[in-house]
Amino acid sequence: MSNSGEAELLHTFKGIPFTTRSSPELLKSLDTFDAREDDVLLVSYPKSGTHWLAGVIRKLYNTQVTITSPIEFGDISQLENLNKLSSKRIIPTHLDYNMLPPNFKNKKCKMIYITRNPKDTAVSMFHYYRDNPNLPTVDTWTAFFDLFLKGNVVCGSWFDHFLSWEEHEDEKNILFLFYEDMKKDLPKVVKEIVLFLNLNVSDKDIQDICEKSSFSEMKNDTEKENSDPGNTVCALTSDRKLVFRKGVVGDWKNYFTPKQNIRFQEMFNEKMKLSKM
Ligand code: A3P
Repeated sequence: MSNSGEAELLHTFKGIPFTTRSSPELLKSLDTFDAREDDVLLVSYPKSGTHWLAGVIRKLYNTQVTITSPIEFGDISQLENLNKLSSKRIIPTHLDYNMLPPNFKNKKCKMIYITRNPKDTAVSMFHYYRDNPNLPTVDTWTAFFDLFLKGNVVCGSWFDHFLSWEEHEDEKNILFLFYEDMKKDLPKVVKEIVLFLNLNVSDKDIQDICEKSSFSEMKNDTEKENSDPGNTVCALTSDRKLVFRKGVVGDWKNYFTPKQNIRFQEMFNEKMKLSKM
């Protein structure tokens, strides 16, 4: 971070960096948040394809559902507003498993965790940091790479986030998805989501939804929606161009030096030695 004055953009809660958009009062109150049995959580580490997944899910429902802003964003009124919503709630979150309101776990709410190659996630997050005035400035990829490896970025360590959720991968109410699988065969992943959410959507409709959820379609749509205050999945920017950047697999190869790749791989092997990934 180039400017210590920017430290006020972040604060730490339970050891994890959050933006000051997540007030400490709200974070403290998460423990007592009242879940509803039919809530669906969209869980991700930032830059893993949250908007893509949310875009698909929005199109799958033909009943009234509300995709809210992330539960951890805002001040305490965010939780009050969620409580007041009369429609079914689809709630995005970047919280790690341990910080999730316990009520979601007790009520066995459905949760979809989307993850992505952490190297591509790091590159995507670098651009997001660089171009977003609500996040501390990072001048170079090299500087950001170090912050990312140390977990000194919003939402903390990718590894800790992933591991906290992977531990619960086999629970029936949790569906694990990979960005790369969505890129390879979106209809197959969408069918999995439909089954998991117990929805009734024809193959033809799934095909249509997948076409409308391509990177270019979504980028065009969101540019039109830029001024729509109802579009709140990404609460840290109103500039959708920051979210729909490139949408490819393997962009990390354009950024990682051979040395960085080795350092990353060493960290990956160490942190993920008990992981199935
Ligand atoms: P890149 O920065 O690599 O392009 P999130 O929604 O969690 O913030 O993730 C953003 C990343 O998902 C960005 O990655 C973005 O381009 C990518 N993305 C968004 N919509 C997509 C789509 N329809 N198809 C493929 N990638 C998409």
